[in-house]
Amino acid sequence: MTLRSFEDIYLQAGDDLAAVPWAELRPRPALVEWLDSRPDRPGATALVIACGFGDDAEELARRGYAVRAFDVAPTAIARCRERFPDSPVDYRVADLFALPADWSGGHDLVVEIQTVQSLPRDVRRETITAVAATVGRGGELFVRASGRDDDEPTPHRPWPVSRADLAVLADAGLSEERFDDTRDARGGRWFHAAYRRA
Ligand SMILES: C[S@@+](CC[C@H](N)C(=O)[O-])C[C@H]1O[C@@H](n2cnc3c(N)ncnc32)[C@H](O)[C@@H]1O
Repeated sequence: MTLRSFEDIYLQAGDDLAAVPWAELRPRPALVEWLDSRPDRPGATALVIACGFGDDAEELARRGYAVRAFDVAPTAIARCRERFPDSPVDYRVADLFALPADWSGGHDLVVEIQTVQSLPRDVRRETITAVAATVGRGGELFVRASGRDDDEPTPHRPWPVSRADLAVLADAGLSEERFDDTRDARGGRWFHAAYRRA
């Protein structure tokens, strides 16, 4: 079976945005809960990795962050602009593996939700390293990922993330400040974690 590209999935959904399997069309509750647990930092810069339909980016903007959000799928970014025409968020089509040089290390807060698990295991280290590279000095990273044990197989997309996978973040200079290993109502395992660059 050939994996459908992300752009194809967004295109085929058409105006039925809820047909995109991961779309919640609201900010992720785990992100909102984490943001609520700490003081907002109005004016701080935030980057939303692979932002999909933009709800998480809008939540950060609502809290006063100066937000940049990107996705490799042009249709996703077009939908963000349609849904939030007056948004202050800077929405861009961009590839995580070829980001503009001046985005490197340039953000006070980076949000990564369900992208790492969506990209094949053979580029996992590269993916996590690319996410980490966008976090500035003293900056934070929030991660939500489908979770698994280190020795658990990953037969199909999404390919859940293990704690050993996430250890790449420490190699990239980020310290873990919070790690929650949770179950959703359907028994799905989710890691919610926060990191900081010294
Ligand atoms: C499972 S979706 C999650 C989207 C969003 N973060 C959310 O939680 O709704 C994965 C996203 O990663 C995007 N993506 C995949 N490869 C990418 C890349 N190399 N650079 C940027 N975005 C990418 C896809 O287009 C898709 O929007």
